Amino acid sequence: MAQIASIAQIGDYAEQAITLRGWLYHKREKGKLIFLILRDGSGYIQGVVFEPEVAPETFEAAKALSQESSLIVRGTVRADERAPGGYELSVQDIQPVQIAEEYPITPKEHGIGFLMEQRHLWVRSSKQHALLRLRAEIEAACQEYLNERGFVRFDTPILTPCAAEGTSNLFSTQYFDLGPAYLAQTGQLYVEAGMMAYGKVYCFGPTFRAEKSKTRRHLTEFWMIEPEMAFYDHEDNLKLQEEYLSYIVQRCLERRAEDLEVLERDLDVLRRVQPPFPRITYDEVVELVARHYHEVEGCTPLDWGDDLGAPHEALVSQRYDKPVFVTHYPTQAKAFYMEPHPERPEVSLCADLLAPEGYGEIIGGSQRIHDAELLAQRIVEWGLRLEDYGWYVDLRRYGSVPHSGFGMGIERVVAWIAGIHHIRETIPFPRMLYRIYP
Ligand code: 4AD
Ligand code: MG
Repeated sequence: MAQIASIAQIGDYAEQAITLRGWLYHKREKGKLIFLILRDGSGYIQGVVFEPEVAPETFEAAKALSQESSLIVRGTVRADERAPGGYELSVQDIQPVQIAEEYPITPKEHGIGFLMEQRHLWVRSSKQHALLRLRAEIEAACQEYLNERGFVRFDTPILTPCAAEGTSNLFSTQYFDLGPAYLAQTGQLYVEAGMMAYGKVYCFGPTFRAEKSKTRRHLTEFWMIEPEMAFYDHEDNLKLQEEYLSYIVQRCLERRAEDLEVLERDLDVLRRVQPPFPRITYDEVVELVARHYHEVEGCTPLDWGDDLGAPHEALVSQRYDKPVFVTHYPTQAKAFYMEPHPERPEVSLCADLLAPEGYGEIIGGSQRIHDAELLAQRIVEWGLRLEDYGWYVDLRRYGSVPHSGFGMGIERVVAWIAGIHHIRETIPFPRMLYRIYP
């Protein structure tokens, strides 16, 4: 058998006989010619079957192939300027592995509901394929950046005894005789324990929120990466975030240009993502919204103290051509663990990073309260049970240090980098209010 080649590396085999193992993406017949678009997961290539040059069984086998049939093909790689990718395969032999039943997803238009039901197959389609490979690159980039800078990955539990990001969106389950357990909304509290052990850590995994909202940017199960750094203040935290996101975006441009092309992404927007990022305070946002709310559909003036909604974020982010930090939110609008501003305790040392083009929040982060007493007081004020958080307050009793961290939602980052409207396509199997199949 000739050398097994992958389509991504096909250029290494010009004018050589190779074996390809994969699937039939598309087929076109024209007299004595059959054109097979083959895919093997790494790319696409056109195979040409020319009746006078192959055995009759081979031509018959090509004729019998249906869309998505699996097959092993032998042929010779030909450089061809007109071919997408620059190469074509002149097919000599076809060995079908399985002739696919009539494939439900055809090149014609399908509705989103249908495609979501067929998600297990839809991930093979070229746009979805590009999008999820881009996701894999982003996931690799966001870990490698940290690994190369002395961060230690510190895995945090998914089954947890108490809330960390509000109590209204918890998924719960009975945990043997120990009462309810909740699916983690964040790994942050636990990653803070790791931070005190290693200095710089991150957790990366699925997080869960029983969000009853049906928006284009909410999933009930999403992946979050959460770095946490000892001795970092609010300012250090923002610096790291802008370096981090810029690295991720530039790396996608370098390594996944093909996928971004399939996705028809405007690359100029991405090229601009370089530090520093603009900043605006929450107070300035309130004024901005008061003046301009009528410019954005569904936008209403903000009462000081309210958290921003999607229309407010859209209004802010539309004014910048780079991601923008909104800083110093009202303490009451955010989580209990945020360090208050030293001169204005009614606002916190926190920031959300909003992506441009109306994508809105992709990162939430803050400096954390490092004083045990203040933290305990906040837990009670936020209506939580102090005894549930004993270990977390403990972290402030044994060598407490100022520290900061942030959480970046992978699906929202993928949606923005890819220029995809709805985040349901950015994860292989999305979980939403009305979807748990497949
Ligand atoms: O702003 P959030 O709630 O912050 C935290 O969970 C902190 N504990 C993070 C930290 O400081 N370590 O969530 C962080 C990010 C958001 O900016 C958003 O990108 C994403 O998580 N996110 C969601 N993504 C998809 N669907 C949802 N329902 C999301 N909720 C938050
Ligand atoms: Mg947030």
